[in-house]
Amino acid sequence: MCGIVGYVGPRPVTDVLVPGLAHLEYRGYDSAGVALNTGTSFDLIKTAGRIADLEALVDAEDHSNALSGIGHTRWATHGAPNTVNAHPHTDEAGDVVVVHNGIIENWADLKKKLVESGHEFISDTDTEVVAHMVADRADMTLRDAVTDIMNQAEGALALAVMRKSEPDLIIGARRGSPLVVGRGDGENFLASDIPAFLEHTREMVIIEDDRVVEVRPESVRLFDLEGNELEPEHRKIDWDFEAAEKGGYPTFMLKEIHEQPHAIADTLAGRLSETGRVVLNDLDLDPVLLRSIDKVFVIACGTSYHAAMMAKYAIERWTRLPVEIDIASEFRYRDPVLDDRSLVIGISQSGETIDTLAAVRYAKAQGAKLIGVSNVIDSALARESHAVLYTRAGLEIGVAATKTFTTQLVAMQLLGLYLAQVRGTLDPGAIELLVRELEQLPEQVATALESSAAIEELTRGWADVRDYFFLGRSGDFPVAMEGALKLKEIAYVRAEGYAAGEMKHGPIALIEEGVVVVGVATDTHVQAKTLSNMEEMKARGGTIVLVAEEDDDVGEVADHVIRVPSASDLICTVTAVIPLQLLSYHVATARGLDVDKPRNLAKTVTVE
Ligand code: G6P
Repeated sequence: MCGIVGYVGPRPVTDVLVPGLAHLEYRGYDSAGVALNTGTSFDLIKTAGRIADLEALVDAEDHSNALSGIGHTRWATHGAPNTVNAHPHTDEAGDVVVVHNGIIENWADLKKKLVESGHEFISDTDTEVVAHMVADRADMTLRDAVTDIMNQAEGALALAVMRKSEPDLIIGARRGSPLVVGRGDGENFLASDIPAFLEHTREMVIIEDDRVVEVRPESVRLFDLEGNELEPEHRKIDWDFEAAEKGGYPTFMLKEIHEQPHAIADTLAGRLSETGRVVLNDLDLDPVLLRSIDKVFVIACGTSYHAAMMAKYAIERWTRLPVEIDIASEFRYRDPVLDDRSLVIGISQSGETIDTLAAVRYAKAQGAKLIGVSNVIDSALARESHAVLYTRAGLEIGVAATKTFTTQLVAMQLLGLYLAQVRGTLDPGAIELLVRELEQLPEQVATALESSAAIEELTRGWADVRDYFFLGRSGDFPVAMEGALKLKEIAYVRAEGYAAGEMKHGPIALIEEGVVVVGVATDTHVQAKTLSNMEEMKARGGTIVLVAEEDDDVGEVADHVIRVPSASDLICTVTAVIPLQLLSYHVATARGLDVDKPRNLAKTVTVE
């Protein structure tokens, strides 16, 4: 996730670009930059840090000769968040500038060819390939050059590109990542999202996927990737600023819940091969070392700990390595047995949680090898680790983790399969089947999200329910735990996550009329047992809600069944948690609570 803004028109260019970027800062804020086109050169101003840092640099000089420009606020995916990697990027001659949002999955191949033909790269980004590719197409119109590049680039991306010789033209292109045009009178705007230009115009043009747009002061022309001109679709925006930042959703949490198909697709991008293998080129660990491991520890806090729970099932099942999981704040104090054949995996979306950092530092000091799983490039966890596997959920603003959790599940499934591949514990056919299932996940999650209205309806009368249980076995157990945590965090009601089979050993005493029991029963090899446990809850007066796969016969036990698409047992955890996120969301909003900023919580906890 990053923010793009572009402007062609008579206003002072920096007066549009810098405030526009400030309105997109929610999309990422580790570095920022603008390229100002004077007609004879680009003024390139970039910096690590926030938009305020960029603004100070821009204000320090006179830019009244700028005729147009593009800008960017970055959420790092390839390359550390420093000034060199900040956008815009340019070619060696400084003739072209480009800003980009998304991931160019085949960037390494494209870069290799460019380097062989003599290009010199200065950044670690995937974006820079586009600048060099445009430079190589000097004989083409800028639109043709960008169209050609879109046809070669794989993955979800949005681009804004300029040539210094054409200051009245910005070319935008979109596939997967958002991009919109704002229409003005003798001026036009290009941006990742509407808030960037909302103070200047409320007229916009929608850009669909696989489209290239030619933005000039007096015109906006739209083309497909074959070069056919299309009729632009105009819309009038009636949102206020706050609604616009939330993309039309009432809260950041709901927006982020709905961003999950995209976040998962980004996390998988470039990591699954056509031949059904897992490709983790970014995980820089020697396979010989991975083969020497004899024990795995997974350490995390909060929601990330639930991803660790799923990881235990996945890694043990697929690699036959013993796995211990620990709540980070407990790990050091139980004197764990670690040595140089131990692999420790620390999971933290922020990468800054002090409990997790202290635990992994302790493990490292005992000689263990450390893999960090983080959503933030160059976070403290990433710097501490011998190797890093990044989730690519983009910035999450809602305090309750949603898209960072499902991408953690996906990352741990990738890692589990990769270890199995390296260690030869699953045959290639079995790995390929699971890889094909991972490929389906973004679409399956989108299908699971369709149950939102039905869940809202279901929970309408629940504003006063005070007791919930979330139950599951095997892979459904961590999902149940996460469902309970979400409800506690944002709806402030008692919700217990429990292993379904363990209820009879005590907590079943709490089941009575008025208690809602949510059973997760997607894991087929334990489903019959989970259903029996749900019968036990029903017999004691519980209201039974069941999350089940679309084709499964789950009998008559449930008062309500919520269906999710079918998938293999552990893969299904990703879709199974979606209804539980929606359930907690709708209960909390029915109770009139601020789901984005729940009381007593912080997004990142840096105290022990
Ligand atoms: C805080 C947040 C939780 C989060 C936990 C771990 O407690 O409120 O939502 O799961 O930290 O965060 P991390 O960044 O380490 O994943």
